[in-house]
This record gives sequence, C-alpha cells and structure tokens, in this order.
Amino acid sequence: MLGGYLSWLGLLFEPLAEWDIPPIQPQARLRPENRPWNTIITGAYGVPAVLKLHDRKGNVSWSWQREDVTQPLPPALERCLWSDANDATDLKWMRSGKSVGAVYSNLVMVVNHTPEDPENDKKITWAICRDNEFFWNAHALEALPGNRVAVGTTGERPWDGIIVYDMSMDKELVDDPPILQNITGLRAIHGLIWDEEEQLLWAAGTDAAADGSDPVPAYGALVAYPFNSETNELSQEDAKWYLMPHAYDQETEWGSGYPWWVGPHDLVPVPNERKFLVSTDRDIYEFDINDGAFINEGTNVTDKYMPGFEVTTDDRHGFDRAGNYLELPRSDLKGFSLAPDGSYVYVQSLWRFLRGFHTSIVENGVRRKIMVGDEIYRSRWFGELDGWPKPR
Ligand SMILES: *[C@@H]1O[C@H](CO)[C@@H](O)[C@H](O)[C@H]1NC(C)=O
Ligand SMILES: *[C@@H]1O[C@H](CO)[C@@H](O)[C@H](O)[C@H]1NC(C)=O
Ligand SMILES: *[C@@H]1O[C@H](CO)[C@@H](O)[C@H](O)[C@H]1NC(C)=O
Repeated sequence: MLGGYLSWLGLLFEPLAEWDIPPIQPQARLRPENRPWNTIITGAYGVPAVLKLHDRKGNVSWSWQREDVTQPLPPALERCLWSDANDATDLKWMRSGKSVGAVYSNLVMVVNHTPEDPENDKKITWAICRDNEFFWNAHALEALPGNRVAVGTTGERPWDGIIVYDMSMDKELVDDPPILQNITGLRAIHGLIWDEEEQLLWAAGTDAAADGSDPVPAYGALVAYPFNSETNELSQEDAKWYLMPHAYDQETEWGSGYPWWVGPHDLVPVPNERKFLVSTDRDIYEFDINDGAFINEGTNVTDKYMPGFEVTTDDRHGFDRAGNYLELPRSDLKGFSLAPDGSYVYVQSLWRFLRGFHTSIVENGVRRKIMVGDEIYRSRWFGELDGWPKPR
C-alpha cells in the first residue's frame, strides 16, 4: 500500500518519456493538495445526529442534519427523520461525491452533496424508514450499478440479509418504495463494498445468529454476491462464502453469560490491492481476495497496513468463556479507512460502550485525535479509492 504513494508520478511520466516530449504539469486533480484524501466523513451521534465532512485537522467544510431539510417528505419518512433515534451508523461517498449515503436517525438515505448548487444541496433523493422489524438495526448501505442501492438489515433471523432498491434521482420519495431484491441468509451485516473489478457485492456479517439465539456458534463471514449487469440483479445462489476460521464469545468485553458471538465490524478495501481488512469485536484480519482466505491477523495486520496504530484506552482486557485472560487492544474498530498515501483513520469504541469520542488519524506513523468530543461510530475517507471505483 505504501508503494501506492507517489506511484501516480510514474503513471504521468512514463508515457511522456516514451514520446520524448517535455513533461507537463500534473493535472490539478492529481496534485497532492487536491487529491480527495483531504476530506473525511464522520457521523456524530446525537439528537439530532450530524454528518460532517472535514479535513485532516477536523475543520468541517460541509455538514448535514435534519434541520437542513426544507423539502416536503411523505409522512413515514418525516416521522423517521424526526424520531429520537441518535444514529449516524454508515456514511458513504456516492455518485462521484455528489451524494452521501447514510444511516441517519431512523432513516437509511441518500442526500445531495452539491455545495456548488445550493438550491439542491442537502436534499434527500432516496430514503426508507428504519422504524420496522426489518431495518431497525440497519448498519450498512452501498450503491450498486443501475442506480440501485443495497441495504444490510443487520438482524439475527434467517431471513435477514440485503434488500435492494432503486435510488434513481428522478423517482419521487415515497414511504414504501418497491423492493427489487430480498437476499436472505447473512446475519448481522456491518459492511457492504462494491467490487467493480469482479462485479460483486461483498458483505461482512455472520453465518448464524450473532446474538446467540441459534443453537450453534456464529462465525464471521465474508460473502461475495455476483452482480449481473444485464438484469441489474445480485445472485444469492452463486454467492461465495468465506468463513472466518474461529468463532469467539464476547464475554471478555461484556462479562460472564453474555450470549453474543464476535462478528465483523467494518469491511475495508486496501487501496490498489485485492485485499480487505476486516475488524471485529475482538481483532483485525487481512483477507486476500485472490486466495479467498484470511491470511493474517492482529499485529501482523497493523504492522503491515496501519503502522502507528495505538489502542485508544488501556482497559481492553478480561476473561473469555473458557477462563483465558485476554488483552484485546485492536478490538471494536467500528470504522476505519485507508488512504493510498498510507494515512488512515479509525474509530475504536470505548470498552463496554458502542462508540468512541474522537477519531484517530495516523499520518507517517503518527497518531492524532480529531473530532474530539463527538460521539462517533464511523469515520471514512470521502473519495474514490484507488483500485476500488464505485458504480457510476
Ligand atoms: C481550522 O483551521 C484553522 C485555520 O487553518 C485553524 O486555525 C484551526 O485550528 C482549525 N480547526 C481545527 C479544529 O483544527
Ligand atoms: C424477504 O424474504 C423473506 C422470506 O423469503 C421474508 O420472510 C421477509 O419478510 C422478506 N423481507 C422483506 C423486507 O420483505
Ligand atoms: C504473524 O506472522 C508470523 C510470520 O509470518 C507468523 O509466524 C505468525 O503466526 C503470525 N501471527 C498471527 C497472529 O497471524
């Protein structure tokens, strides 16, 4: 990944050298100061929650909260927007940065990010209500080609999974938009990532109920659903499942008798590589897409991809169900994100709490805290990640 830093220089100058003409200035977009990697999106929990776009110092350049909504909404969407849900769980760069996808309050939604067009900026262009048995715990969304959007239900029943909708901008907002696909069988989904190269939707969840309500342990699972560009549909039948090698209880953090199994928390593509990093309630793992296997865990992963990683609190230890004493310094990375220049951000929740109160940013191996005081679940780079283009 570090090799990616400045590798664009090579791309710029190689063809020029061949033609033997004098070098031109890099395109404005490619100059380091203009690369997308100065913008981060962070969700601040609260009533109201606030979505913030900010720089590496934490200076906010754009934000979204429900008070910004001036358009009329159908009744259920209005109710869910103005609910007392404090969530800002997922945050996605969409439509080349002109939209933000988010789980916000009791909505899953897509809003305009067009500061250059103030009249349309911040408008909701698609939304569903979470105030029902399907989406009450939804934690993840991702754009698919064909103006579709996939939403993870993040539940524990056999029929939980991914619901696909049409998020076309020209469709009117309605309380119950038609479901285009209902893909069942993956529980506790916490991450969804589009894979342009292989035309797949990757989802991170568990193979059985993560809350312990099934008679078997739940294993963390990465599932790749093939996307058919003729029908614009994901295939459930041809999905490939990759289970994490061990199932772990969560008693170390939550105490004796706590029934939940460890599951994935974030699914993070490595810039310019066919790799994912997966964080869980317990640790961090490296998944090699070409090998179809988890190949590394723990400090082997942080040493390789996240030099300078520091545990945010010193109380992350306890006893597991078998009575082993464990230190879990890399546990509960609820959200993290790698930039091609080697910088990264992460949010580690407080031990025995579901969120943290700052975002860590690491540049050249040195960690700083930003957004101090905000109650945060996730922060991500706001841009098109090299090697991982989003659907157009
Ligand atoms: C925002 O930017 C200004 C000017 O560059 C700087 O003085 C200030 O400390 C920044 N704010 C934060 C939160 O870092
Ligand atoms: C999806 O399908 C399952 C069964 O196939 C059903 O139980 C569930 O209610 C459906 N989900 C939605 C959101 O309609
Ligand atoms: C880390 O990598 C070393 C060297 O490849 C290996 O021996 C060790 O088992 C790895 N540790 C983990 C936790 O994967």
